[in-house]
Amino acid sequence: MDIPEEFRRRDYQMFRGIPLASLFVENWKRVEQFQVRPDDLLIASFPKSGTTWMCEIMDLILNNGDVKKCQRDAVYNRVVMLEFAGVTTIQPGTEVLSRMPSPRLLRTHLPISLLPKSFWENSCKVIYVARNAKDVAVSSYHFAGANILHPHPGTWEHYLEKFMAGKVMFGSWHEHVTSWWEKRNDLRLLYLFYEDMKEDLEREIRKLLAFLEKDMEEEVLKIIVQRASFQVMKENPMTNYETIPTHLLDKRVSPFMRKGICGDWKNHFTVHQNEKFDEDYEKKMSGTTLSFRTEI
Ligand code: A3P
Repeated sequence: MDIPEEFRRRDYQMFRGIPLASLFVENWKRVEQFQVRPDDLLIASFPKSGTTWMCEIMDLILNNGDVKKCQRDAVYNRVVMLEFAGVTTIQPGTEVLSRMPSPRLLRTHLPISLLPKSFWENSCKVIYVARNAKDVAVSSYHFAGANILHPHPGTWEHYLEKFMAGKVMFGSWHEHVTSWWEKRNDLRLLYLFYEDMKEDLEREIRKLLAFLEKDMEEEVLKIIVQRASFQVMKENPMTNYETIPTHLLDKRVSPFMRKGICGDWKNHFTVHQNEKFDEDYEKKMSGTTLSFRTEI
């Protein structure tokens, strides 16, 4: 598993107004031509919002809580990322997915404007996971420090400015969460929040089951809640990204399963940064009914 030297720590490439890893941009034709199937299940999110958590939960649900089955591979192989490309020994997400039998479970961080055309024709079910901007900024700062697909994040102060300006991978958090939110009634879409999952995971899994029109025995539901807990996922090599080599994702800089809490932003934001962030946030989010909790 490797990434060519020239693509490591490289600046994002602007693609239709969105900063992306240049390896993803090079693969774009395949993404554009990708055939979504009506029975696909798509997990969508802005990065660091609890995507992996949702992937594990959905795989457990679809396999009826069969723990052994859900240990068959690392979570990023069980739920393939549509736009992923670049590791030389791994095929692009589009290629892996096109060979996969239905019903497929896939994930994306793409803003809604960049989805392939076939998504609008075949409109599969979508589960969108959103997390409050402050915790996402903190989590993505640590992740960018560890992951060589990102340019070096620099200082926290510098990174936070970039985050606010939407100059991070996949662009503006504000635009991402609101544009998916605005479409929630036009699509078969369930919009869930990381903070709600932290507060009561069983309740949120019940929402997923209703959305999927799936019955589940109470005992199985309990197993899923337990397997999807932060501690179990942190210790599980199939969910904690331990299987990604250190030269690609340096877990000494930051483990993938880092803290898994709501409100870690308070350990990072200065009073001044918080005020500035809030002011900018109010402006960008003023036109939406979407609201977030930054503590629970
Ligand atoms: P932190 O860096 O704040 O700890 P993504 O999968 O979208 O990249 O999101 C990663 C974030 O989700 C990380 O946040 C990670 O710790 C958190 N996460 C993953 N699994 C979780 C779980 N079971 N419970 C709570 N948070 C979880």
